[in-house]
Amino acid sequence: MTDTPNTRVAVLVGSLRAGSVNRKLAEILRDEAPAGVTLDIVEGLDQVPFYNEDLDGADAPAAAAALRERVASADRVLAVTPEYNGTMPAVLNNAIDWISRPYGAGAVVGKPFGVIGATPTPYGGKWAHGDAARSAGIAGAIVVEDVIVSQSAVDVDPATDPEVRAKLLAALNTLVEFVPEVSAA
Ligand SMILES: Cc1cc2nc3c(=O)[nH]c(=O)nc-3n(C[C@H](O)[C@H](O)[C@H](O)COP(=O)(O)O)c2cc1C
Repeated sequence: MTDTPNTRVAVLVGSLRAGSVNRKLAEILRDEAPAGVTLDIVEGLDQVPFYNEDLDGADAPAAAAALRERVASADRVLAVTPEYNGTMPAVLNNAIDWISRPYGAGAVVGKPFGVIGATPTPYGGKWAHGDAARSAGIAGAIVVEDVIVSQSAVDVDPATDPEVRAKLLAALNTLVEFVPEVSAA
């Protein structure tokens, strides 16, 4: 019997509210992911304290350690987020800060990273998505530029529209199939 390769994607949802459109999109991708792809929606981001270097180290708070472990054990990282005041919500920014440390060796370092989401404006949260991608890239992730998808929810319900769902699933596939360049050094 041969082992079936499995790609694990850690999913960071940038909205905490129960009725979140973006959480719903993350759940749709989880439920419709192709065979061999597992989406792990990281719960408890609201329990992770604001990043504080005084708290970090061997005794980092349990919620932060759990976040790091979930991301470190994943093959890919996908943020699914709305936009707050022209950037990413603080809960996502905080999660990225925790997985960026220790400097150069954080859980996100070297992980292919994508960011998608929907907001009820014509821009679909593009500033949030751009900022999250830049931040994750500075933290050491490999940002997959084709997996930055900002979906407007003005004239469409992203959770039920077949074209939007297909577009988001295609983005997930692009992230999963992305092959990082191997350094010749
Ligand atoms: C504090 C706050 C700030 C917001 N700022 C923006 C914004 O800058 N751009 C935008 O497109 N939507 C903005 N919104 C609207 C959110 O995109 C909208 O509420 C969205 O549905 C939230 O996503 P969710 O359904 O996943 O919770 C803001 C909402 C809140 C609560």
